[in-house]
Amino acid sequence: MKNLTIVTNPLINRDITYLRNKETKEYQFRLALRRIAYALAIEISKEFEEIEFDVETPLEITKGYNLAKPIVLVPVLRAGLSLVNSFIEMIPSAKVGHIGLQRDETTLKPIDYYYKAPKNLEISKVIVLDPMLATGGSSSAAFTFLKNKGANDCVMASLIAAPEGVKKLTEDHPDVPIYTAMLDRELNKSGFILPGLGDAGDRTFGTL
Ligand code: PRP
Repeated sequence: MKNLTIVTNPLINRDITYLRNKETKEYQFRLALRRIAYALAIEISKEFEEIEFDVETPLEITKGYNLAKPIVLVPVLRAGLSLVNSFIEMIPSAKVGHIGLQRDETTLKPIDYYYKAPKNLEISKVIVLDPMLATGGSSSAAFTFLKNKGANDCVMASLIAAPEGVKKLTEDHPDVPIYTAMLDRELNKSGFILPGLGDAGDRTFGTL
């Protein structure tokens, strides 16, 4: 799993525990998720290329830095929306595209229902946001879609991943680095991550 970075520290471990706990209320779930998303954004930003320029402080001229490429965030609807605000706070210049994918509960295959993304994907770093990487079907479909639209520099940001999903995404898109805060044990027969946290979309939006 050389493409995989597990972003971890004691604060993330504490917040993952809030997410796992079935007693956690929606507002606590959202807050914990939001904090983990900040940490993911910071870690992923280590991949960003920079440009140098001169900046004038009140005292003298020194080196300044900015991002070399536009950043495009692409949340996979719905659950990916839960990660967007934290990423935008860390990367205020980011543009946001949306991909609507719903996993069929019987076949576990993703069905697409919406797509809208900014222009110039080919010159951007494209970060797909989806808290759950389960079978990997949704994320893999999202990258296939985005690459067909011109994306060629992509990153996956997830909160919790199953080994099966990491394997599929790595096989389908070996060029895409995967970031997650938690690599769990396995999938069950219904395609849920174990021990997991349930369904991130339902728990974020209160649609259980
Ligand atoms: C969940 C989750 C991912 C997908 C992961 O979405 O948010 O998008 O399943 O599963 P996969 O890796 O096996 O494809 P779901 O279809 O439940 O839709 P939702 O985001 O609207 O809850």
